[in-house]
Amino acid sequence: MNAASAKKQVMILGGPNLGRLGLREPGIYGLTTWQELGDLCRSWGQDLDLEIDFVQEDGEGSLVRLVHQASDQADGIIINAAAYTHTSVALRDAVAAVEVPVIEIHLTNPTAREEFRQTNLLAGVVDSGVFGFGVHGYRLALEGMAQLLSV
Ligand code: DQA
Repeated sequence: MNAASAKKQVMILGGPNLGRLGLREPGIYGLTTWQELGDLCRSWGQDLDLEIDFVQEDGEGSLVRLVHQASDQADGIIINAAAYTHTSVALRDAVAAVEVPVIEIHLTNPTAREEFRQTNLLAGVVDSGVFGFGVHGYRLALEGMAQLLSV
């Protein structure tokens, strides 16, 4: 647990193009911006007595480094790896080495979409997943994390 805080700390990580939420294909991903989603998550975190760090990176290496950082600093990780979910062995290896609980999240349900989204390299190394609930899925993931951390 984060020594500086009595609250359990959850890092919410976002992968490529999620910083464009709200503008990016709104018919698929909705109108809520990444910043608004961060505000919602921090407020849901307060309800659940969790401290939230909300970060996004477009680059694969940067996202891998964030996983390392989260692994060292946080009590739990919620990750939407976006397109790297389907392609990145490096990210899978980083997540596989994490000892705190990891919940995978997607706004959409990738298995109901294109063929190339059927490959999920993270599924085998995460504790659980929340798919297809849009922004509300982040609330569900935080509730799940609170349960896993027994807050
Ligand atoms: C996504 C689904 C991925 O397939 C896609 O590449 C994304 C967003 C989602 O949240 O639904 O960028 O992770």
